[in-house]
Amino acid sequence: MKNAKPSFVREILKVANRADIISFAGGLPAPELFDVDGIRDATALVFEKNSTAALQYGPTDGVRGFKLQVSELMARRGVNSVKLEELIVTTGSQQGIDLIAKVMLDPGDVVLVERPAYLAAVQVFELYEAELRGVDSDADGLNLESLEVEIAALKKEGKRPKFIYTVATFGNPSGATLSLERRYKLLEIAAREQILLLEDDPYCELRFSGETLPPVIALADEAQRPWIVYMSTLSKFVAPGLRLGWMIVPDGLVQALTIAKQAADLHTSTFNQHVAAAYLETGRLEAALPRIREAYGIKAKAMIDALNGSFPAGTIEFNQPDGGMFLWAKMADSVDTFAFVKTAIDAGVIFVPGITFFPDAKRLNYLRLSFATPSVPDIQEGVKRLARAVVD
Ligand SMILES: Cc1ncc(COP(=O)(O)O)c(C=O)c1O
Repeated sequence: MKNAKPSFVREILKVANRADIISFAGGLPAPELFDVDGIRDATALVFEKNSTAALQYGPTDGVRGFKLQVSELMARRGVNSVKLEELIVTTGSQQGIDLIAKVMLDPGDVVLVERPAYLAAVQVFELYEAELRGVDSDADGLNLESLEVEIAALKKEGKRPKFIYTVATFGNPSGATLSLERRYKLLEIAAREQILLLEDDPYCELRFSGETLPPVIALADEAQRPWIVYMSTLSKFVAPGLRLGWMIVPDGLVQALTIAKQAADLHTSTFNQHVAAAYLETGRLEAALPRIREAYGIKAKAMIDALNGSFPAGTIEFNQPDGGMFLWAKMADSVDTFAFVKTAIDAGVIFVPGITFFPDAKRLNYLRLSFATPSVPDIQEGVKRLARAVVD
């Protein structure tokens, strides 16, 4: 812990809560999209039917009824025949990242992360004293030629990465989605090189344009499947306050991960699992999802239009994501967005400077803009403030 750094995003969120600030910083779901009535009804149902089981301790790997619902959800994502034994319910997918790191990593082990990478995963791997190596990504996700080059370079150093961590669909912070071709290729590389692939998939339900792509794990053949750990969560499309995530893990890791989880928290809240199972059983999620996707699509477009309309030509470039919560933007090479965020806060708007997402490279001129939480008028006003701050 002596070397641990506090999360910059968490620090920034303290400022983001100020009433005079429009925040593009956090990856918080829009509160108006929570299905409050649906979750209230599901809670009432739990009290009618199952209250003592919901209030009691439960199994470490999760409540059966919730696991059944998760396996149905995974079937809808194209991952068929998930066995309940390979499914571990976690306290948010963040716990999944922590557990796999705890089980797999010794100090000095190499972990490959996409660059830019999800900050809180980087934080976990650093806490376990891993050596992080970044692999560049582009609009189609992880660059697999760079991945092969990095693996070969490591071999020359006599090292083998313990795993590759990627958010293949609507990346955080990149918003990028790994193409179908690259999904197959990534599986081929992981199995050939015998490197575990950690697919972190919190955003896949939030697609508002383009063709649906199956998660990488859905494309794995029998020989490739043992090389994948898949993680997902209810946080981004039901409610993060439930703290409900899950992992699909190869047989060989089930026991170690279950022991690690038992030591961490015995089990994830039984009450919340019962409520979520009741909610998913009612089918109300299917009714809520189109509304959620549409709302994020509208917000993303509002941000894109506002950026195009407010910034002088050539001052900012950004991706156009098909889903998720983030725009990943690049300013002129001379701009240091870490310094710029202070000017932006004075102008009444906040974002996350890109440097925080590069564990092993100094790239100063990027910023992550989340369109998920603010209203459309706030997005428009916030982008105007941001553009004014650039001119200042
Ligand atoms: C890529 C990614 N993974 C994992 C998480 C953690 O989500 P939770 O623990 O709420 O499931 C997040 C949350 O922002 C995320 O963006």
